[in-house]
Amino acid sequence: MCVSILAIESSCDETSAAVLRDGEILSNFIATQKIHEQYGGVVPELASRAHQQNIVPVVEMALREAGVVKSALSAVAFTRSPGLIGSLLVGGCFAKSMAFGLSIPLIAVHHLQAHVLANFIPSSAGGTGSKPSFPFLCLTVSGGHTQIVLCEDFLKMKIIGETLDDAAGEAFDKTAKILGLPYPGGPLIDKYAKEGNPQRFSFPEPQIPGLNFSFSGLKTAILYFVQEQTKRDPEFFQKNLPDICASVQHRIITILMNKLIKAAGETGIKEVCIAGGVSANTGLRKAIAEYSERYGWHYHIPEFQYCTDNAGMIAITAYYKYLAGEFTDLSVSPSARGSLELR
Ligand code: KG4
Ligand code: ZN
Repeated sequence: MCVSILAIESSCDETSAAVLRDGEILSNFIATQKIHEQYGGVVPELASRAHQQNIVPVVEMALREAGVVKSALSAVAFTRSPGLIGSLLVGGCFAKSMAFGLSIPLIAVHHLQAHVLANFIPSSAGGTGSKPSFPFLCLTVSGGHTQIVLCEDFLKMKIIGETLDDAAGEAFDKTAKILGLPYPGGPLIDKYAKEGNPQRFSFPEPQIPGLNFSFSGLKTAILYFVQEQTKRDPEFFQKNLPDICASVQHRIITILMNKLIKAAGETGIKEVCIAGGVSANTGLRKAIAEYSERYGWHYHIPEFQYCTDNAGMIAITAYYKYLAGEFTDLSVSPSARGSLELR
């Protein structure tokens, strides 16, 4: 049996389309919306409009690159939730129309389940190139979510810890904003951190019980620290940018890793992986390798292009749903919220 799936991701500010054949990603095309940079964050109304403009060319590029014609598709998949509703509606309506027009099944995918399953995309460049075995723990760290997910099977996942306020990606982006860096700041903090000393400045680690996280206190501590130092020396953060970035990144990573150590200890699971935009972070990728060595874990990291929002991860999730016969009625509607535990 040959299964060919076209997948669409449009939950935030990336318009992406991918084509999969029998579990292999043939193309993964991502159009990043540059328009939001000037506003220091994603403007929902502008994101929906940009998705409308991008969606047809992006889908055409993905099909062309894959060498797959529309009539050869077995199903169309899309991100149903969570995300910005206006953005989700564009991808959802497009996928529904295509499935309707081609008389093929429609598959609705949960964005966070897809981030986790990006670890099953066969990879060569940058990732570990290995697939996790069940059960495993996934540390999902994105711009909107921070979760520790216990994965029992491809489609059976349980959240055992999550953030009570800001997400890890937000902690990176808000720190960048305080430092006057453009949006999204995560990749820039990563870049400057490479040249800095992570031990130079000390930021607090929140004491949150259980496996949950909190990042809002850290953001406030960084803001006060920068204001205080700038009063003494107006050029403080220009002079110390690499050390500040390295120290903040170090603290975010230790907060994440300490909870993962706790989760692994409590569940007895030694199979771990990372997912989501922040899993592209160089420091976090290094940390998971080092901690795995120390704690005897077996770890997995997705290839860079499958860490931040992309349709390849929607395609691989749709593939497992296709094999399980989990199709979606054409009356489905995207939703801004929704747990990955309830499919
Ligand atoms: O998964 P994603 O693309 O979108 C959401 O589902 O939210 O994650 C985006 C987040 C942003 O906060 C961005 O700053 C962060 O991932 N990010 C990074 C890096 N690359 C992306 N954070 C730290 N280091 C990076 N290299
Ligand atoms: Zn995402």
